[in-house]
Amino acid sequence: MKIAMASDHGGFALKASLMKHLDEEKIEYIDCGTYSEESCDYPDFAEKACKLVQQGEATYAILVCGTGIGMCIAANKMKGIRAALCGDTFSAHFTRAHNDANVMTLGARVVGPGLAEFIMDEFLKTPFEGGRHARRIAKIAAIEEAQ
Ligand code: RB5
Repeated sequence: MKIAMASDHGGFALKASLMKHLDEEKIEYIDCGTYSEESCDYPDFAEKACKLVQQGEATYAILVCGTGIGMCIAANKMKGIRAALCGDTFSAHFTRAHNDANVMTLGARVVGPGLAEFIMDEFLKTPFEGGRHARRIAKIAAIEEAQ
């Protein structure tokens, strides 16, 4: 498993603390930036990390901005990306189990580092259930194809 990590300035500190946790868990990641707290634009970093998921170079992407919303909107514009904004472990669990989400976004101004760690762990350890949910994912892909 390899994770593409990205943030804007608002998510920079939380991304750093999540990467530290990934180091402790010995989970590989690619840091797609941003690399400082200088103001920047979240779509640039959402795109960079989600490209790695599209190309199969990363299993998942974790994107952090102030609310998690901008990153989520940007990521969901990309083909094959199913991004979910998660502020709790229940959502993190079921967006993997039912939506086969391949990107999770977090709001650094919404959740603290401790909760964010639990949310990320739940997302990363939960498998997709398949079955009836696979049919629904195929319908989402068909909507995307029809655009
Ligand atoms: C940046 O100030 C802020 O707008 C951004 O981090 C994010 O919350 C956007 O959705």
